[in-house]
Amino acid sequence: MPGICIVGAQWGDEGKGKIVDLLAEQADAIVRFQGGNNAGHTIVRDGEEFKFHLVPSGILYPGKRCIIGNGVVIDPGVLTGEIDALRARGVDTSGLRISANAHLIMPYHLLLDTAGETKLGKLQIGTTRRGIGPAYADKAARLGIRVQDLLDEKILKKKITAAIDPKRLSLRPFNKDPSLDLQSMTEAYLTFGHRLERYIADTARLVWDALDAERLVIFEGAQGALLDIDHGTYPFVTSSNPVAGAACVGAGVGPRDIDEVWGIAKAYVTRVGAGPFPTELDDDLGEEIRRRGGEFGTTTGRARRTGWLDIVALRYAARINGLTSLAITKLDVLSGFDKIMVCTRYRGAEGAEFTDFPYHQSVLHHAQGEYTELDGWAEDIGECRAPNDLPRAARDYLAYIAERVGVPVILVGVGPGREQVIWMQDAPQLAAVARTAPRRAPA
Ligand code: GDP
Ligand code: IMO
Ligand code: MG
Repeated sequence: MPGICIVGAQWGDEGKGKIVDLLAEQADAIVRFQGGNNAGHTIVRDGEEFKFHLVPSGILYPGKRCIIGNGVVIDPGVLTGEIDALRARGVDTSGLRISANAHLIMPYHLLLDTAGETKLGKLQIGTTRRGIGPAYADKAARLGIRVQDLLDEKILKKKITAAIDPKRLSLRPFNKDPSLDLQSMTEAYLTFGHRLERYIADTARLVWDALDAERLVIFEGAQGALLDIDHGTYPFVTSSNPVAGAACVGAGVGPRDIDEVWGIAKAYVTRVGAGPFPTELDDDLGEEIRRRGGEFGTTTGRARRTGWLDIVALRYAARINGLTSLAITKLDVLSGFDKIMVCTRYRGAEGAEFTDFPYHQSVLHHAQGEYTELDGWAEDIGECRAPNDLPRAARDYLAYIAERVGVPVILVGVGPGREQVIWMQDAPQLAAVARTAPRRAPA
């Protein structure tokens, strides 16, 4: 069985959690491979809502192997809180495993994140202030503290000592007395270590074992392509790579271990935080989409900016991820609009036309979407379960997206519930995706 990577194809919050939950039933392992608790992945099961920040979206299946890979940055306070909250709701978390090589978010990373935003003032990124950027910065600077360090008091203390001094200096102008006491921090993190020890493992090996046994592995992305630190709208991005290529690095597998890459995109676009957004609807219509779609952040509760579907950006996301399929979520939110607009090109400041996503920051900042108008539909589609249940205009919209992006639409979301999906091709035969070539040369 194959490796399937699920990634956000826009600016995050596309509905990745719901799709991962749907596929996870057939999977042996689900692996988060980047990001941290900046993510908020929602699953609605039998009317009950779950929001995951670090725990992979397969955890609702009892005992399912859910892996937090080495590429994730972990705030151990948030993770233990999430585990406790799940257990309090009767969820079996015994299948959870945490990479010993994943980096930790430390208290000073949270302070630095806020200080960084304060310093930027009007130019701030609008981060989730969860310490994500500073934690990845320390990882690259080789000052990071890893999950395995939680299990050795001497090493932990030594590493915190080395990391903390430069932080004190940077924080001084922002916080007269940053509470960065070495002793209490070490003790708190050792306590997290005791609590998490049973979950810590060589997670790459667990993934290899599942792949070697021809089982399905789902690589769960966080954020979205346009928030990618290399390919997104830098500097208004997150500090990791949400694109599919990062699944290899963040889980410990090779490109040949990923057979399918599914891009999740809303039927329109949202963005939380600052940065360019060529199809933004900064008006009553945008407000209406926000209201109908319930577009408020899962992690921070902030109102999400809204706009029409952007084919230029989606085509770009398809390329940088190597998408093999698209899942279009929240199609139900567009019910009741007479006309639906789709952005097919941008107009730049000096009238230049762009059909490809512009690489230059200032071009993108001034780019305005230009639209093709499609017919809308009036019907509520929340109960549709097959392509032919959908109104003709909704089907035409999906066909238009697939044709323009050059990637087939495999799945459509018509409501937040797990069952509110339409498979556009035959029922999911994930086994049929199996590779034709042997996975590895025989030993
Ligand atoms: P993620 O971060 O990509 O997992 O997405 P979020 O959970 O942050 O945001 C997606 C929101 O849309 C959640 O509230 C989901 O419950 C909801 N959702 C997912 N798919 C659909 C859909 O097809 N229709 C509707 N109406 N809501 C959906
Ligand atoms: P999921 O996985 C939407 C955005 C923040 C900010 C930028 C940088 O739920 O799709 P960070 O805290 O990462 O340094 O913030 O990235 N952002 C997200 N937006 N969904 C997310 O995750 C996000 N994670 C980060 O709003 O603009
Ligand atoms: Mg989210």
